[in-house]
Amino acid sequence: MPKHFLITRRIPACGIEHLEKHGKVTVNPHDRALTQDELITLGHECDGWLTMLTDAVSDSILEKCPKLRGISNYAVGYNNIDVAACTRRKIAASNTPDVLTDATAELTWALILATSRRVVEADGYVRRGLWHGWSPLEFLGSAVTGKTLGIIGTGRIGCRVAEMARGFNMRIVYSGRRDNPALEQAMAARRMELAELLNAADIVSLHLPLTPGTRHILGPSEFEQMKPTAILINTGRGPLIDETALIAALRSRRIAAAGLDVFEYEPQLTPGLVELPNVVVLPHIGSATVETRNKMAMMAAESLTDMMNGRRPPHCLNPEVYG
Ligand code: DGY
Repeated sequence: MPKHFLITRRIPACGIEHLEKHGKVTVNPHDRALTQDELITLGHECDGWLTMLTDAVSDSILEKCPKLRGISNYAVGYNNIDVAACTRRKIAASNTPDVLTDATAELTWALILATSRRVVEADGYVRRGLWHGWSPLEFLGSAVTGKTLGIIGTGRIGCRVAEMARGFNMRIVYSGRRDNPALEQAMAARRMELAELLNAADIVSLHLPLTPGTRHILGPSEFEQMKPTAILINTGRGPLIDETALIAALRSRRIAAAGLDVFEYEPQLTPGLVELPNVVVLPHIGSATVETRNKMAMMAAESLTDMMNGRRPPHCLNPEVYG
């Protein structure tokens, strides 16, 4: 029987074409995420789904789709998928790591520089016609070179962000579940407990997966431990930060600024956030380069055809299903 695939949002053509060579393909016809009902309606007849981070794939959804044998998530993060439920139902699941590491690290750096040097604020000032010439005290930011960069979570992206600090001659400190000897050797990085890192870092950058244990890892008491001059960057997942507490910390200048690519209730923004001048907000574009999205599309599509052929894909999240 030819396989039937659902792609829950239009992706680069190379990924769609790969799946078309291996079966029938249904692509979400809307330029928005599918609702849960639409996911079931379009997906219940399908053998494999290529999903987005905006699709919540719960056990109750899986229950209504008994034909489903594989889910390939077009993202490195997979907090949107109940992997344990997939495993119980013998549905393989995969993600797209590695290919988006550089793009996401680059965007982290874009936010570090934009917040430190007040790039967005200054751009708006010029566009609104408020600039009347060079001024000795206008838009003073804070230097990046020579400062301390605190990386929370030293997976692929966190490590790449740390490596990119080379040109800025920064001191690297990190916190994570285990030692990272490679990072220590490459960047003379020092591991610290979270509280110590928050105390020491001029720039704090979050690179953790979202799990019940990491939700709100930064909240009111953590902001209290940060320097008043500190800048917080999040290109991981929004709920890592208690956004209401962050707004209070930014408003009172308990910390200096934040650069955010992800939000606790995205695409909803917590009231008060965008009114703050010391925050830069981006619409979750960490992996959004042409090169990276093409690679993600191919990797996700190939993983799905691997699953349909009974092969374990290279980035399988539940290898147990293969026995
Ligand atoms: C991911 O792949 O998890 C990223 O959030 C995409 O930007």
